[in-house]
Amino acid sequence: MKFSCNNKALSTQKTDCIILGVYEKGKCSDSATAIDKASKQYLSKLIKSGDFSGDFGEALLSHHVPGIKAERVLLIGLGNKKQLDASRYQTAIKHAAKQVLATNSKHVINCLVEAAVDKRDSAWRIRQAIICHQDIAYQYNTTKSKKDRAHRLKEMQFNAASAKANTQAITRGKAIATGMALCKDLGNLPSNICTPSYLAKQALVLAKTFKSIHSKSLNEAEMKKLGMGALLSVSKGSVQPAKLIVMEYKGTSKKGQQPIALVGKGITFDTGGISIKPRTNLDEMKFDMCGAASVFGTMHAIAEMKLPINVVGIVASAENMPGGSASKPGDIVKTMSGQTVEILDTDAEGRLVLCDALTYASRYKPKAVLDMATLTGAMVVALGHDVTGFFSNSNDLSNDLKQAANVSNDHAWEMPLWRPYDEQLNSRFADFANIGTRWGGAITAACFLAKFTDGYKWAHLDVAGSAHLSGAQKGATARPVPLLTQYLIDQC
Ligand code: BES
Ligand code: MN
Ligand code: ZN
Repeated sequence: MKFSCNNKALSTQKTDCIILGVYEKGKCSDSATAIDKASKQYLSKLIKSGDFSGDFGEALLSHHVPGIKAERVLLIGLGNKKQLDASRYQTAIKHAAKQVLATNSKHVINCLVEAAVDKRDSAWRIRQAIICHQDIAYQYNTTKSKKDRAHRLKEMQFNAASAKANTQAITRGKAIATGMALCKDLGNLPSNICTPSYLAKQALVLAKTFKSIHSKSLNEAEMKKLGMGALLSVSKGSVQPAKLIVMEYKGTSKKGQQPIALVGKGITFDTGGISIKPRTNLDEMKFDMCGAASVFGTMHAIAEMKLPINVVGIVASAENMPGGSASKPGDIVKTMSGQTVEILDTDAEGRLVLCDALTYASRYKPKAVLDMATLTGAMVVALGHDVTGFFSNSNDLSNDLKQAANVSNDHAWEMPLWRPYDEQLNSRFADFANIGTRWGGAITAACFLAKFTDGYKWAHLDVAGSAHLSGAQKGATARPVPLLTQYLIDQC
């Protein structure tokens, strides 16, 4: 897809479709007013007819509007002007995307970017228009013999000046959208294809695509040497060997630029192990590597944008299966940190793979470490599917994340890491157990991880609710790639 900026007069432009915003009570946006004039009040008459009023969520497609060169005009209802915030703007862009992709348009001019959105500048609106359009345009085809018909739309032009900030917004929007598509592709793949070894290969593909990325992966023997007893305990029941995947992105060779580490939970399928899960919706446990997928997507995005920053991506990947050699409840393992863990529940496996990856991360002397994990069902109960819950041992990092969540509008909410929860992890037989009581399960999971984060600023993002959806919309969402990329942009 091509994206560009161009603010020539709309009525004289040849295009397959012009997308125009109209506010409630038929109040035309600037572009809609221009088209209305050129077409001898065609839009005004249309609105007068009562078929379209500009209420939020409305859309109306017209062909052969007189007085203009465009083939079609798509009116999008923007509702109340003052209520047009970041979320509504994103929804409007997505709505327009659905409508326009259903037409035969190959070239469109999107004028929604001119809308005044609460506290957001034109560069933000252009970047979001690309991200949201591409989010809707995403197609999953890898494992279908009958592929979805390819979109006919090839080019989107925004009615904005091709100023420096807008051009950069296009580069960044495209890079983030590409990273998100990669994240979705990996997340959506079934576990019989997307194994830990497959993910390790994808890291090599990334290194081949970008000179700025170097990848490697540790096999089980190498992990054993490092003492990663917790990570290895998870893959024991599976025929798929575990992998610790490392991707180093070097965006700057300036001295003293310590990397930011992104650590992803890469459980390619979570049966629960011996503490086996019930069968309902069990297929969705292929999404248990969405944290890892977000690391891949973010690495791709920042490499494409050539961000002047150093980032190391670490993916702890394993398949959690029952079996004759699987870990059993009560088993005690020694982590890379030296601390011992009593595995009271083999279904609390995410924290077991992550704890060793977090210890491994410290060798990079990172400026900050962020881990992303579909860690707990309790997080879904607490915040639902729209909001990522995060925990941090640093106020600075927590503030940076809130800021990035706000700018990207990729919602995240801080959760507490408090003592009383920590005490639930006491064990009679090891340094601590891998589960607490059911209540506050997202917090005890974070408290567990915190025991492996001494010496660096750390945040844990529990994306169990936000990284994938169920039902008719089943699929990976690519979250929190928008949040992570924004955070990294802000760190430059
Ligand atoms: N991968 C699951 C968490 C999960 C649940 C993600 C639902 C997405 C949707 C995780 O490994 C898990 O099984 N967690 C347990 C922890 C419990 C045993 C303490 C859970 O949440 O039930
Ligand atoms: Mn589990
Ligand atoms: Zn899991």
